[in-house]
Amino acid sequence: MGERPRILVGDKIVDEALELLRQEADVDIRYGISQPELEEIIENYDALIVRSIPLVTEEVLRRGKKLKVVGRAGNGVDNIDVEAATRHGVVVVNTPDSNSISACEQTIALMLASARNLPQANNVVKGGGWGRGEFMGSELFGKTVGIVGLGRIGSLVATRLRAFGMRVIAYDPYIPLERFKRFGAERKETLNDLVREADIITVHTPKTEETIGMIGAEQFRIAKRGVRVVNCARGGIIDEKALADALREGIVASAGLDVFSKEPCTGNPLLEFKNVVVTPHLGATTFEAQRRVGTDVANYVLAALKGEIVPNTVNLPYLLGEEIHTLKPYLTLAEQLGRLYYQLEKAPAERVEVTYSGGIAAKETGIITLALLKGLLTPVLGDNVNFVNATWLAENRGIRFSEHRDENDEECHSGYVSLITVRISGNGSKAEYAGTLSWDNSPRIVKVNRYQMEIVPTPHMLFVDHIDRPGVIGPFASTLGQADINIAMMQVGRCTRGEEALMVLSVDSPVDEATRQKLSGLPGILNVKIVSL
Ligand code: NAD
Ligand code: MLT
Repeated sequence: MGERPRILVGDKIVDEALELLRQEADVDIRYGISQPELEEIIENYDALIVRSIPLVTEEVLRRGKKLKVVGRAGNGVDNIDVEAATRHGVVVVNTPDSNSISACEQTIALMLASARNLPQANNVVKGGGWGRGEFMGSELFGKTVGIVGLGRIGSLVATRLRAFGMRVIAYDPYIPLERFKRFGAERKETLNDLVREADIITVHTPKTEETIGMIGAEQFRIAKRGVRVVNCARGGIIDEKALADALREGIVASAGLDVFSKEPCTGNPLLEFKNVVVTPHLGATTFEAQRRVGTDVANYVLAALKGEIVPNTVNLPYLLGEEIHTLKPYLTLAEQLGRLYYQLEKAPAERVEVTYSGGIAAKETGIITLALLKGLLTPVLGDNVNFVNATWLAENRGIRFSEHRDENDEECHSGYVSLITVRISGNGSKAEYAGTLSWDNSPRIVKVNRYQMEIVPTPHMLFVDHIDRPGVIGPFASTLGQADINIAMMQVGRCTRGEEALMVLSVDSPVDEATRQKLSGLPGILNVKIVSL
């Protein structure tokens, strides 16, 4: 490493972790550092270690001229602008596995505490009262728990709650059936199927565009009267206003909340309900988790400073060096091809086959396959997927993948100089996408299932199955116009005249759910999917 690197530690990590860091670096501890101070001194440091504070903003990254690594002692990277870090060439590492057990146990603690009124009773007794009759509780035994998101923490919760004699049902459309079986959970096809049957709902998804507010007014309308809810994942996955309304109406009997859409959560109306038990984001606050999280982040940061491959790198640039220049456009293309799948199909991916044809087949394609897997998993796992862990995450979710090369066969690469074709299948669903680079190295998707097209990937897209007949596209475009949404590009692909066809549009602004539904109901429109590439 040459000169000893300087590391700034911006929130509390265990002493053992600090000792590890001090063996190889000069360490400055500034717990609770203010944002302006951080911005002022960051230029002196090679690495920064944070927990859910301080915020690692674009400004911090811009001013951190020497900064090479940001280490997040924990799971979520919501407080780090990962995209800006990537742009500034800063590696972001986190420790997603280190606190799962603690978060799982906190979930169950909140479930029991809220079902048995523990904090409320504690307050009465300590206040000199007794109030034995006031605190009628409810057993977990024999009840149905609905787990939303059967990943690391959700699956730990499932196995433990089965020991309580609970029936476990789960909703996670992105994992294969085997995983449900392995954790003794009954698979529910839709979120609302789970909501209708659950006595207790607990959420364990990352906070993504799809999961924000996923337990909202609609779910409380169909939930059992007396349902209990727990959120130890991220604030906002259970819509806070809808929850307050449902508590007021007596639909929800109790809530156990460790996380809030704004933290600290002072002034949050949910705090006024007697039957809401809250903790200040304590999921990972145990000696064991903090020891693991601290020592893991210390080791990862030191390794990243030495340029080593780190198991939990959230972003890429530090790892690829020179090669990135040639491969970068293909990485973008592959990631976009992967991202298509879960946005178009509500089915688990079980098998992924990638074929590299033409010029690209002669290159180092392993990293491109990783980009594809990263793209595949990102819509459902959020920012935690990276180039290093994509393979592991895919395998762990039961996805088998294979890579084929075909340097010469003209037939196979349909006249393109280089072509990447991916076939993804699972649970009866089959998809095939292909892509290439255009003359300026920008990605083009040239095949979506049976349709040949030439699609420029953009952040706001609509994929529309429709009937190929006159009078279908006009009203569709007008409805977008009425919603003040400008169409930037449009492509139509069909196989047989008069039959089903695919229309792909790029629009200049996001399409909201109400507009999507209006579009879906137009004559000749079969379905409308919002895609972001
Ligand atoms: P994970 O990535 O292992 O699992 C998340 C699961 O959610 C995946 O299986 C994914 O398929 C599923 N999922 C994604 N979108 C979904 C959707 N729309 N519907 C249903 N399922 C969906 O994550 P994890 O490590 O288990 O963490 C779960 C959550 O807990 C995260 O939000 C994390 O930030 C949070 N967390 C909180 C604390 C705390 O202190 N309270 C501690 C650790 C983790
Ligand atoms: C995490 O994301 O790891 C948890 O929410 C805990 C924390 O923020 O420290």
